[in-house]
Amino acid sequence: MTQNQLTRNFSDDTYSTARYGARRPLLMVPLPRSPQTTSPVPQLTSLYSIVNRGPYGRASYPGNCSGYLIRDLLRYFGAKQVLDPMTGSGTCRDVCRAFDIDCISFDVKSGQDACQPQSYEGLPPCDFVWLHPPYWRMIRYSEMPACLSNAATIEEFQNRLRSVVTNCLSILAKRGKIAILMGDYFDRQQRRQMPLAYFTKQICLELGLWPACTDIVRFQHGNTSSSKSYNRSFIPGLHDICMVMQRS
Ligand SMILES: C[S@@+](CC[C@H](N)C(=O)[O-])C[C@H]1O[C@@H](n2cnc3c(N)ncnc32)[C@H](O)[C@@H]1O
Repeated sequence: MTQNQLTRNFSDDTYSTARYGARRPLLMVPLPRSPQTTSPVPQLTSLYSIVNRGPYGRASYPGNCSGYLIRDLLRYFGAKQVLDPMTGSGTCRDVCRAFDIDCISFDVKSGQDACQPQSYEGLPPCDFVWLHPPYWRMIRYSEMPACLSNAATIEEFQNRLRSVVTNCLSILAKRGKIAILMGDYFDRQQRRQMPLAYFTKQICLELGLWPACTDIVRFQHGNTSSSKSYNRSFIPGLHDICMVMQRS
């Protein structure tokens, strides 16, 4: 294809700044039709796009995600005893409370470091772990050195995340599942994209875990950065990845 053809193909004004100004209209994109299955949660597919965030957790908590995905995963996998070692505003805990599911949740901010095996001592076995770590230093959650968002290098972040997953496995039942929500981002200091979802999957595979189902692409509705304007060109990331892993 010549440069001219390229220009012509992309020159219709469907999305043009001239027509809409800096703000693009909200495009309603249909999701592909899903096959009928016997799943108790038919809306749970590899594309997760629920616009409302629901009543769980706190929308104002940085990096918070809607509880609906957690709700649907717990229902699909029939979770009875849940662990959330990076609780933030408590979205997972609130979902569990609403559906009468036992949940243990803690956060480094409440004094328990998920990287330390001691934080898991005396906990009952669980059959489902919800793990929503910082996306390295995309958001700084606190000044605490133990916080994963303060890892000095990407290697340190990966090592600490590996410790968290290992510790979770120490109390995860044999057939239990660990769901990890992780997103990629562009690191301003290193001036390069951070493939964190890939790294996370790699850590899980190295620890002997295997996907329990398809990865779930979660559309980030209500993302704070979506309402910002930038004076540079880049491809905005509007999703993160939920991977559900089990022992292989
Ligand atoms: C993406 S947020 C989780 C948001 C949460 N899902 C919610 O419902 O709001 C990541 C959380 O991990 C916590 N965190 C970071 N490092 C930690 C560590 N070493 N141990 C436990 N929690 C940690 C942060 O304090 C932050 O609350």
